Amino acid sequence: MIKNIEIHETAFITSMFRAMNASLSKDYYSKLWNNKRTKIWVTDYLKEVSSEEVDTHCVRNRFFLEKIQQLIKEAKIDILINFGSGFSMYPFLLNESIEHIEIDKPDIIDYKRHKVSNWVQTGELPEREIHFLGVDFESDYKEELYTKIQKIKKNKRSFVLIEGVLFFLNKNQTDTLFGFFNEIQKQGDYLGSVSFNSTVKKTKAFLRLLNFFNERISKTSKDDYLTLENNFYKEKSTYKIKEHKDYFMYFKELKNTVNLKETDILNENFYLLEKIK
Ligand SMILES: C[S@@+](CC[C@H](N)C(=O)[O-])C[C@H]1O[C@@H](n2cnc3c(N)ncnc32)[C@H](O)[C@@H]1O
Repeated sequence: MIKNIEIHETAFITSMFRAMNASLSKDYYSKLWNNKRTKIWVTDYLKEVSSEEVDTHCVRNRFFLEKIQQLIKEAKIDILINFGSGFSMYPFLLNESIEHIEIDKPDIIDYKRHKVSNWVQTGELPEREIHFLGVDFESDYKEELYTKIQKIKKNKRSFVLIEGVLFFLNKNQTDTLFGFFNEIQKQGDYLGSVSFNSTVKKTKAFLRLLNFFNERISKTSKDDYLTLENNFYKEKSTYKIKEHKDYFMYFKELKNTVNLKETDILNENFYLLEKIK
């Protein structure tokens, strides 16, 4: 067993899941991030937490990829701003017509910038317009990040995405981030968010996840992981929910059948919001 997984290293795990069923995730580039160390965690994780985690991660990527693709087709967005972007590969999966801002912790961003630039040079990735910004959401980032984003974004219509991140933040940090999204976005812009609701904490899979993290990351309790109810999104006065699906709903829509019992699955919620004022 490899101990001491850092939270940011979960980004490697997420990428490997997406690579393990690329026909479902439609992420044909995530395999570039595969490495031996991650393979060991992934094998342990699938065995100890939930074997459905490959598909849950693939379906999440597929949901947002399709929503963003559709909005590009309808000429409704010009820039994708991915908060906690990890090693997600949307810039390369989407049409080159839009620009990208990728935001994550500085070490992840520096590593991604370096790897991506090498892969573009070797022809393994197509060229895209990506701005990489290193930021820690636990710090006092608002003013500086606002200036940097505005310089790039100007008057462009944006899609803000936050997936696989909120679980690791606290409620204050989350409220601050959503307040920040509201400041950088304008009417007609889109926001994609992924979160668990509190029922996940009653599942066997969640208890196993807690054990997995406790053994490998640090001793935590169930209260250290953030869940959000639908009302968190519904009550936003400047956004309206355009679409809300969970893993079960979207997996079924994609004509797949779930193999495990509900209690053995970490069911995430996918929200698509539109800024209305
Ligand atoms: C599970 S990964 C998900 C990555 C990506 N969104 C995806 O779905 O593939 C979580 C990401 O959130 C980032 N993250 C977690 N806490 C953060 C913080 N305080 N500030 C900035 N990024 C953070 C991690 O570095 C990591 O890349």
